Amino acid sequence: MSGNETHGLGYQHVDDDPNVAVLLATMNSTAELEAIRRLRHWERSQLALGDGLRLLDVGCGLGEAALALAQDLGVQGEVVGVDRSAAMVRVARANASTAPCRVRFTLGDACALEESDDSFDVVRSERTLQWLTNPVAAVAEMARVVRPQGRISLIDTDWSTFAIDVGDDVLAARVRDAMREERGRASNIGRRLHDLVRDVGFEPIASTRATQTWTSWNPNDSPAPDGCFSMRSLADDLVARNQLAAEDCDRFVTTIQEAAFRDQFSMSLTMYAVVATANQPHRT
Ligand SMILES: C[S@@+](CC[C@H](N)C(=O)[O-])C[C@H]1O[C@@H](n2cnc3c(N)ncnc32)[C@H](O)[C@@H]1O
Repeated sequence: MSGNETHGLGYQHVDDDPNVAVLLATMNSTAELEAIRRLRHWERSQLALGDGLRLLDVGCGLGEAALALAQDLGVQGEVVGVDRSAAMVRVARANASTAPCRVRFTLGDACALEESDDSFDVVRSERTLQWLTNPVAAVAEMARVVRPQGRISLIDTDWSTFAIDVGDDVLAARVRDAMREERGRASNIGRRLHDLVRDVGFEPIASTRATQTWTSWNPNDSPAPDGCFSMRSLADDLVARNQLAAEDCDRFVTTIQEAAFRDQFSMSLTMYAVVATANQPHRT
């Protein structure tokens, strides 16, 4: 079995992951998911950025979302992207050459931003809070660096919404129940975005959600549906949590794969987005 087949899609420590190339490639494929495209489109129209504004993207990944927003900032604007992964930052920098404004992609920690107070018009973060041990601290940092009356824009997943149908209700319930729990990370944070921004003195001014549905998957082509974790890694996870006996692991994966071959496979997952502005005053 190759590393890819056991790959579990964890973004806490990308550079230390033996599957770093898969993690980067997965970011490219998830950017193409219909739900992500819709949420980014919605965010761009809600923000309606203008010439000369400064935008910070926290956990910027490959930078493509920030670079799309850069199109609205004019030559006087600036985009800064911060990410903990050097591999992500390298690709983001390589992608930045055609930006119409100044761009700086830099290594950094969402929970300890090296940016000045009140220095950005908009701070965004997409699908990053779910990987942090302290997302509250990260949102407090976003609030610190955004200027008074600036905006925070968050997009994140809620894994408790995960649903799977493989023609086996017992197996589906087992997977669903496992996904609903938060285990050492804020995997259900999507539904808490409103509370997070309110806790730092911001008020949501717009919010939406989008559900991604996977209706087909050919296990011969890929160990995982597009942009998703592999079914093998899901089984390993259940074994590690004593929710699946190790000897049942292969059968578990085979059951799901056979459902996919029979065209009886579907999964869905909902992501949430919120744009918030500072209540005045939001800092003392
Ligand atoms: C799932 S990716 C999302 C990337 C990008 N925002 C997007 O939506 O395409 C999560 C990103 O968060 C970054 N990350 C994880 N922990 C971080 C931290 N403490 N500080 C900054 N970035 C972090 C990862 O390196 C990764 O690039």
